[in-house]
Amino acid sequence: MFRVFTVIVYVSFLSLVPVDSVIDLKESLEELTTQYTHLARLAKACYHATGPHVFEMKLHKLADRNVTCNDGTAAGYYLRKAHGSKRWVVYLEGGGFCNSAASCEYRYSTMKELMSSDKWGNVQYKTGTGILSRNPRENPTWWNANHVFIPYCSSDAWSGNAFSWQTGERFSFLGTKILERVFEELMFKGLYHAKHLLLAGSSAGGIGVILNLDRLARRLQMAALKVQVRGLADSGWYIDLTDCTAGGKQNCLPAQPQNAAMILQGMSYWRGVVPDDCARRNPKKKWRCYFGEHVYRTDSKSPKHTPLFVFQWLYDIEQLKLFGISVLNPNDKQSALFLGMKVKDSLNHTKALRCAVFAPSCVSHTILMRDDWLKTVVGGKNLNQALDDWYQSSGQGSASCKSLIETAMPQNCESNLD
Ligand SMILES: *[C@@H]1O[C@H](CO)[C@@H](O)[C@H](O)[C@H]1NC(C)=O
Ligand SMILES: *[C@@H]1O[C@H](CO)[C@@H](O)[C@H](O)[C@H]1NC(C)=O
Repeated sequence: MFRVFTVIVYVSFLSLVPVDSVIDLKESLEELTTQYTHLARLAKACYHATGPHVFEMKLHKLADRNVTCNDGTAAGYYLRKAHGSKRWVVYLEGGGFCNSAASCEYRYSTMKELMSSDKWGNVQYKTGTGILSRNPRENPTWWNANHVFIPYCSSDAWSGNAFSWQTGERFSFLGTKILERVFEELMFKGLYHAKHLLLAGSSAGGIGVILNLDRLARRLQMAALKVQVRGLADSGWYIDLTDCTAGGKQNCLPAQPQNAAMILQGMSYWRGVVPDDCARRNPKKKWRCYFGEHVYRTDSKSPKHTPLFVFQWLYDIEQLKLFGISVLNPNDKQSALFLGMKVKDSLNHTKALRCAVFAPSCVSHTILMRDDWLKTVVGGKNLNQALDDWYQSSGQGSASCKSLIETAMPQNCESNLD
């Protein structure tokens, strides 16, 4: 009885919401918040009738048991449907990668949860924070969209296409396959009728967005979906600098950069799939396509890219580490400043990202899942406001838009770092 009542209230509440318009939604936020509070009170009252998880994202394991996590356990996704909404946020989790038998064995012994779904059974539900929060104060634009969280268990920056039975290795690397299968299943769960899809991801998940966005958008289009696809890469804009001893003086750092060699090895170990257009332009150096600056080239021959928004801390801790730079070592300061400048230039000079960049001058890593993600401000705007502006525009930038790349000296914006 109570359960039926809740469902009716929930459905009728959602039908009041002009879910497909970002602007209308903001205008009526006050009213919505009141309704929302009311709904929350009702939900609490119905708690015992409906169970504690009605408003959480629920785990679904993939039906295709061939497409698995590294260790052969089922891959999957967490979904919270917002009945009545045609907007979807699909989020790719991050967590580094491994690129050899030895590094993957080590990862398995220390971070098994990033390679296996063995323990997911204990976490059937997720609440969602930041851009996946259901709280309009924490997530003003996307709180009532459909939310999908895809756990990262392929250790391949979402690029792999290597079945263990093909390679003879202990582990499979199936990042691209997992994404494909998840989207195939989501189509039957309402995505087929979606109007807006934001593919977001942090860290290795951010690289995953850069690597998969154009292909995914094409696949959805081929499946006759009318959805407008956009991407949001958080902390995945890694830049391609070489070692100064290798000749070049322009784009080099004194420290031995590990990035290219690591990616080169990973790409072959995972049978990595990179964007077609970039692969065509770099036939002998396909590994370069793990770097956004090579993917989002715009020349007369490139196809029109699916709009991408990049969030990047200019002094991203993981990027600094890849170049052997420690933020805590005073001797590394010049290298850190140089790298920050290179990241800034790379973002500023990538035409495809015109007005689609938010880059605070901070030493930090990732933002989208933080419950305080709106506190970071550049040019008077937080990331959510910058994304709203970008959604109002065509996604290719307008003549008058302001660059949100901070020029100040690096700040430590991480309260838990000294
Ligand atoms: C899984 O792989 C086997 C071959 O190993 C194949 O015969 C089977 O059709 C595959 N299943 C799916 C659902 O693709
Ligand atoms: C971006 O590039 C333009 C033109 O090259 C320059 O005027 C501007 O100062 C640059 N912005 C940043 C943040 O570096």
